[in-house]
Amino acid sequence: MPTVVFIDPQGSEHAIEAPEGRSLMQIAIDHGVPGILGDCGGVCSCATCHGYVDPAFAAQLPPRSETEVFMLEGVPDLRDNSRLCCQIRMQAALDGLRVQLPDEQV
Ligand code: FES
Repeated sequence: MPTVVFIDPQGSEHAIEAPEGRSLMQIAIDHGVPGILGDCGGVCSCATCHGYVDPAFAAQLPPRSETEVFMLEGVPDLRDNSRLCCQIRMQAALDGLRVQLPDEQV
């Protein structure tokens, strides 16, 4: 099973074996990772699942939808590697992915 590593806002790392097909948001919530909320349940309408995704994996990530781009415009400290974790589903090609969670969600 592939592994994803979340780094919470306090700097603690959470390495999780992640089932393929599950979203990064849901995986983090399932394991009680601090710093991510997922208030809308993963339908890209709250932006409380913001994370900074390791740029080394950029080519393996799905492109941002127009809705994701729109929602990201409202997050504090938007960066080039900002993504909404509900819009990325785990897959073998993402094994070892690291996701830094921001100091604050929306
Ligand atoms: S969980 Fe709401 S936008 Fe991702």
